[in-house]
Amino acid sequence: MSASSTTPAQTLDADAVRREVPILAREIYGKPLVYLDNAASTQKPRAVIDAVATFYETTNANIHRGVHRLSQEATDAFELARERMRAFLGAAQHEEIIFTRGTTESINLIAASYGHANVGAGDEILISHMEHHSNIVPWQLLCEQTGAKLVVAPITDDGDIDMDVLASLLGDRTKIVSVGHVSNALGTVNPVAEIGRLAHEVGAVFVVDGAQGAPHGAVDVRALGADFYACSGHKMYGPTGIGVLYGRRELLDAMPPYQGGGEMIRTVTFEKSTYAPVPAKFEAGTPNIAGGVGFGAAAVWLQSHGLEAIERHEADLLAYGTQRLAEIEGLRMIGTARRKAGVLSFVLDCAHPHDVGTILDREGVAVRTGHHCAQPVMERFGVPATSRASLGLYNTRADLDALVDALQQVREVFA
Ligand code: ALA
Repeated sequence: MSASSTTPAQTLDADAVRREVPILAREIYGKPLVYLDNAASTQKPRAVIDAVATFYETTNANIHRGVHRLSQEATDAFELARERMRAFLGAAQHEEIIFTRGTTESINLIAASYGHANVGAGDEILISHMEHHSNIVPWQLLCEQTGAKLVVAPITDDGDIDMDVLASLLGDRTKIVSVGHVSNALGTVNPVAEIGRLAHEVGAVFVVDGAQGAPHGAVDVRALGADFYACSGHKMYGPTGIGVLYGRRELLDAMPPYQGGGEMIRTVTFEKSTYAPVPAKFEAGTPNIAGGVGFGAAAVWLQSHGLEAIERHEADLLAYGTQRLAEIEGLRMIGTARRKAGVLSFVLDCAHPHDVGTILDREGVAVRTGHHCAQPVMERFGVPATSRASLGLYNTRADLDALVDALQQVREVFA
């Protein structure tokens, strides 16, 4: 999604990719699984499953604290995973990668630590109208606790951020600007580098919720101008319960700890504790070690298929799916931005999204229905919920044909 290059130009063979992902061979109600719920969570390739299993079978021990061999090997495996995530995101330093439980915890960490240290009464935090709840509620909590104000940049009828209004909302009081790289509900790819430039012009720090961006194309946090970038393992073909927060070193060094406990300290007395340097300062307690190892394996797996090739493949599928869905009578697409990643969110005039999802499920087609943790987006488009097909690198045009066939059946039942 940025211009950075991780591999030379290559094409993606989705059928070969599918053979690497065991669950895709499953049947659902006797029909082949058509998995189109990748924005909610992705399926795992053998490379990730094996990395986690091998860790537990051969290397498992606690990290950073044992002199024994297994502990050292486990530490090396976890730190190798950190290095893989550094390379994947284009960060300058190993220490700029903090392992968290996921994007939600990453954003809460920024709000609790950077926010409490730097935001006060009368200050402003700017987000957009298309944010996921995890990029709204942590800032609302910070505002409630500090007296700061949440400012929301509007979106157009197509689902683009209104950039003129966004620019006009920035000012001396803006301390944090936080936007999604890609909208989970609309698929919009936001002009994050441009928003980052505007944020920096007024001296604000720039946070990017990369949960839906990092799985779909090359990310270079420095080219994007991100001060913080958050992403989740399970949306990137890795394990659940593990994520990454990238933070610029000077910011992380100056920030107070987020949680207290083991591993994040230098010294502890009852009078006063001092803290370890980053990244340990933000990793209190035993982390999800196997999850980190699996996440690192997922990053390598994605790179092996080529981030640009993945982006091209998913763009082709998005164009094909958009065209095919237009054949369905009474279907309204929610989210028609100029730049989109693989999200097809829609409503049908004849059936509620939950009924659509239920009928699709009986045909083996997995989509998500609901508000997608983005209730303000639903309110903006005047719908209670949508059905959402979301793409991954292993999807094919045949998956989209199956979706369209199943939607024709929905019409037959309800129209
Ligand atoms: N944020 C995830 C989604 O969009 C759960 O489905």
